Amino acid sequence: MCGIVGYIGKHAAAPVILEGLSRLEYRGYDSAGMAVFDGEKIQIKKSVGRLKVLEELTHGGATMPGSIGIGHTRWATHGAPSDANSHPHYNAEETIAVVHNGIIENYLPLKEKMISKGYRFVSDTDTEVLAHLIDYYYKGNPLEAITKVMHRVQGSYALGIMFAEHPDQIFAVRKDSPLIVGQNEEGCFIASDVPAILKYTRKVYFIENQEVVRLRADHMHFYTVDEEEITKEPVTIEWDANAAEKGGYEHFMLKEMYEQPKTVTDTLSPRIKDQDIVIEELGMSDEEIRAINKIFIVACGSAYHAGVTGKYVIEGIARIPVEVDVASEFRYRDPILEEGTMVVVISQSGETADTLAALRESQQLGHKVLGIVNVVGSSIAREADNVMYTWAGPEIAVATTKAYSAQLIALYLLAMKFGRVRGKLGDTAFHNMLEDLKRLPAQIEMLLANKQRIQRFANRYIGAKDVFFIGRGIDYAISMEGSLKLKEISYIHSEAYAAGELKHGTISLIEEGTLVAAVATQDGLFKKALSNMVEVKARGAFVLAVTNEGNTDIEKAADYVIYIPRTNQYFTNSLAIIPLQLFGYYVAVGKGCDVDKPRNLAKSVTVE
Ligand code: M6R
Repeated sequence: MCGIVGYIGKHAAAPVILEGLSRLEYRGYDSAGMAVFDGEKIQIKKSVGRLKVLEELTHGGATMPGSIGIGHTRWATHGAPSDANSHPHYNAEETIAVVHNGIIENYLPLKEKMISKGYRFVSDTDTEVLAHLIDYYYKGNPLEAITKVMHRVQGSYALGIMFAEHPDQIFAVRKDSPLIVGQNEEGCFIASDVPAILKYTRKVYFIENQEVVRLRADHMHFYTVDEEEITKEPVTIEWDANAAEKGGYEHFMLKEMYEQPKTVTDTLSPRIKDQDIVIEELGMSDEEIRAINKIFIVACGSAYHAGVTGKYVIEGIARIPVEVDVASEFRYRDPILEEGTMVVVISQSGETADTLAALRESQQLGHKVLGIVNVVGSSIAREADNVMYTWAGPEIAVATTKAYSAQLIALYLLAMKFGRVRGKLGDTAFHNMLEDLKRLPAQIEMLLANKQRIQRFANRYIGAKDVFFIGRGIDYAISMEGSLKLKEISYIHSEAYAAGELKHGTISLIEEGTLVAAVATQDGLFKKALSNMVEVKARGAFVLAVTNEGNTDIEKAADYVIYIPRTNQYFTNSLAIIPLQLFGYYVAVGKGCDVDKPRNLAKSVTVE
């Protein structure tokens, strides 16, 4: 995700900011920028590309003198990576500068309002709205202007703000995006993450939601959104710099698993408006949605598994036939795309060669393509006719977790939108589903909190040779992803099977003690799933079951049970995958594998 660093103190700000931003490089970014008050005005320098470009542009910060500044590394969300879209953003007079992490959900109506008041925008970002809004409410008191803006914006934000008229202070603000401030004898610091300032101080304050900090060179004041002053206690950071990069987690994969509740919220909430689903970026009228007679979902690896879930969900909810294809097959099999066929490609990186080729193939056949993509400005995002972004932020571990979870959410939203428009989803069912969707982040959090139990179980299987994952319907789709998570990072052979298919061959591989992970979250298929468990147990398998709370009958057929909270039958994948991710992770950790960088694998597969 984007990085923020700010400094006010006795030293030159620019080198401190550059050093701090370099400590956040692991988070991924596509452009960088800084604002420094030079004694007369706020000077801004920014550029697309690596931080090195900004360093060269400013001669390591030497061309930006001044001891007060804010800096930013941007991971594009609103607007492609470009100099204009990079942060900081100014007001028209260049007297207010803002850096921002997060997403302003109501930026479009706010932007229209500011345009109607004569404000001119030079970027496509949601952040620029903040710079103009602060300017609009600023009547000499920065705190008053900032809190007025906080009352009016919706979404998530961590902000660094400076005012040319108040060159002895900078401001830090936060809601639903991480931000800390720190202090040493030489000055005060803002950072979106601890590693950025660990070189300078270990004394930090964690900013809570809707709090504002006024930083001066030698002290800080904390306020509520209603401008009431509050006191806060500092925390001493004990981690070393390496651990701090991972926010204290042992691996990026674990950190990213823990980010899933936020990822789900970020992908979901901008698209739920007034108890309805609004997917502006879909670029389809209701008429066009009604005219779809088939959907092709094309992707690779985990994104393909998300697509398989999508097939069950879209067919079930919207009653549109869906075909799912592995991109490397689709592109060479001369697919039959008839009129009324919609093509959806799914990709975290947006650079997967086969998926990109499948997109181009579809376009050549005269079909529009919707991309479900995580990386803004990536090749697939640029070439797709319409893009629905998953707001998972940068994913560093090769094994995907949070991006996959975000892809599922995008597919649920599409299914519900299509079901609604096509008259297949009544009001009550729709609203119940919306409520279930909103509950998912808290439910995922609960499952993650149960990690120790799964870790203990995983430790028993460090020596396993073969593991089978079975399920029916959506549970088969979950099994595919659970199996991939285990094998790609632990190097233990595993396979996913449609549970009913086992006895057509694979069951002969079951030996005494073979682990079979059975997913049984679909009430309509529960009894059938139970029989499949009994079949393998009778042949010596040890059965790990994942099922819904209350399905205690399963204990008759399984040796170990993980219960997931109740949700709509179409959304169970978002919950059942959490213990399976944790299982794969802890087996790999127990075996001493390089979890974040498994052998032979790359995060982005840009070759065929
Ligand atoms: O970047 P993409 O989503 O297009 O990548 C597709 C696959 O390579 C990817 O999902 C891969 O299977 C995962 N990294 C596995 O965890």
